[in-house]
Amino acid sequence: MCGIIGYAGDKQAAPLLLEGLTNLEYRGYDSSGIAVLNDGDISMKKAKGRLKNLFELTGGGNALKGTTGIGHTRWATHGEPNDVNSHPHLSGSGQFAVVHNGIIENYLDIREFLIQKGYKFRSQTDTETVVQLLDYYYKGDIFEAIGKTINKLTGSYALGILSVHENGKFYAVRKDSPLVIGLGEGENFIASDIPAVLKHTRRFILPEDKDVVVVTSSSVDIFDMNRESVTREPYTVDWDIEAAAKDGYPHYMLKEIFEQPKALEQTMGTRLFGDTVRLEGEKYAKGEPNPALKAKDGFRLTERDLENLNKIFIIACGSSYHAGMIGKYFIESTCRVPVEIDLASEFRYRRPILDKHSLTVVISQSGETADTIAALREAKRLGSRTLGIVNVIGSTIAREADDVLYTFAGPEMAVATTKGYTTQVTVLQLLGLYIAEKKGTISAEKNARYLAEIAALPDVIRGILGNQTQLQQLASEYFGGDKAFFIGRGMDYALSLEGALKLKEISYVHAECYAAGELKHGTISLIEENSLVIACATGSELFDKTLSNVKEVVSRGATVIALVTKNSSGMEKEAKHVITMPAMSDETVPCAAAVALQLFAYYVAAQRGCDIDKPRNLAKAVTVE
Ligand code: G6P
Repeated sequence: MCGIIGYAGDKQAAPLLLEGLTNLEYRGYDSSGIAVLNDGDISMKKAKGRLKNLFELTGGGNALKGTTGIGHTRWATHGEPNDVNSHPHLSGSGQFAVVHNGIIENYLDIREFLIQKGYKFRSQTDTETVVQLLDYYYKGDIFEAIGKTINKLTGSYALGILSVHENGKFYAVRKDSPLVIGLGEGENFIASDIPAVLKHTRRFILPEDKDVVVVTSSSVDIFDMNRESVTREPYTVDWDIEAAAKDGYPHYMLKEIFEQPKALEQTMGTRLFGDTVRLEGEKYAKGEPNPALKAKDGFRLTERDLENLNKIFIIACGSSYHAGMIGKYFIESTCRVPVEIDLASEFRYRRPILDKHSLTVVISQSGETADTIAALREAKRLGSRTLGIVNVIGSTIAREADDVLYTFAGPEMAVATTKGYTTQVTVLQLLGLYIAEKKGTISAEKNARYLAEIAALPDVIRGILGNQTQLQQLASEYFGGDKAFFIGRGMDYALSLEGALKLKEISYVHAECYAAGELKHGTISLIEENSLVIACATGSELFDKTLSNVKEVVSRGATVIALVTKNSSGMEKEAKHVITMPAMSDETVPCAAAVALQLFAYYVAAQRGCDIDKPRNLAKAVTVE
């Protein structure tokens, strides 16, 4: 994880670096640091804990003078979060400073090698080996030193490098970790992602793996490993600064919950036309995709592809996995193609059986999750066609998958995903209907009903958001508990998994989810007087079954909050509270119902005084295994 930033321009660097780090803090917040270059001197400040400590330590950055610098916000992997392990790291000689996002897998070998050469290490980090190695290889030619250093590294990295020999300039290089170059007027930036510098520019370059980037106030030059100059096309993002700001909401998470109607409209906008889904997008409609983005939005299945398609794999982590589970149920039922779903961290090591007849769908909001990237590469290696469902434009998964369908949710800043998740669910459902229609496995009537309901989702969600008082009240009543059980069947099970994750990750209430039918195989022994059970029973087909499970827990003393739809009946007699969703198909209601669970989790966390946007120990983009 971690976030990095770099600046070269005509303004003081430190305040700008701190400002950029504010927007990267979601990537890690154990400690932070900045280093600024001034007349051949590197001055550096680091602070354990939240970025505000670094603000205080440096007087908002005023303590460091210089117009070129690098900064970092850390999610600790190697070595506890403390001042010494914080980035930037300096080489022993003091001639280089480095910030790093990623993991150097062979750092112990390198460390040993350098110790033999007389180098002394201050920190426990893998990053310090990089800066010492640079120092070791530096014989007056920084290019040569960077080249030799990265040739020796295994693992992933996005690096920002300052050298006392190179005034007004810094270097950057990446492999398998995100890095963007922001092109400004009289100033240029690097950052782990776009929102960090969106205030200053909308023009970006995405460097390729192992490109060596040289940044000054007036130039960005890129070289490949052979030291040949290379051109990487810039592109312009259409996000505005407000999209990445809190906009009056107390937390990004609440803002993003409320942005869902608009986000879903963007997701569907270019794809849903009455009773037809078009996924081909510009990519297939107009020939070559924009080379700067590598994989432009679009997915197409030809007659031949359809004949050959024998299995779909869905792979993701966290909430994206939960979205994938809804996708699995939906695609299997509408397309009659077997769908396997895997956590990326399991898939990559389980020797999966797939080939050119399979379609592998990897889902990732960030497009940078290390396990999901590895799983994507494994699927490609085995010959499968790959499709990324991704939010961040130009991210690694978007670039590496054969095709990409962007969720177009806009920047998501809160660590706990909300609009990222519901837009993923929607893309998966559009994908299912696209395939089903082509395969002829869905009736025109059913197809039209689903599409009308999906098209109506933004308004349905507006309704839920407009009636959030009930969820606020429930949160006020139950925020003091220390555990909650979520149960559901079918798609409601997938929904419950997400509901439990939302609650536990931001409120630290121990929330666990069980398939309702599994309760009797062990979990029910945990139910006692006043245990809180949140029963998701929005699906009509399995409603009676879940109702029976609700009766079982109620008779053992549980307090039940049930999520149902308007046309169900009987739950109000058993559950203490009933949250009612509009009458919709079993398959389309979970996306709307997720919003109610997000709001409940949010308000419980708010009542408990939790740091909602940055829950402890978490980070938004998990770029380590
Ligand atoms: C982290 C985030 C989750 C997210 C998961 C997968 O754990 O906190 O919200 O679902 O990573 O991230 P991705 O970017 O691949 O969807």
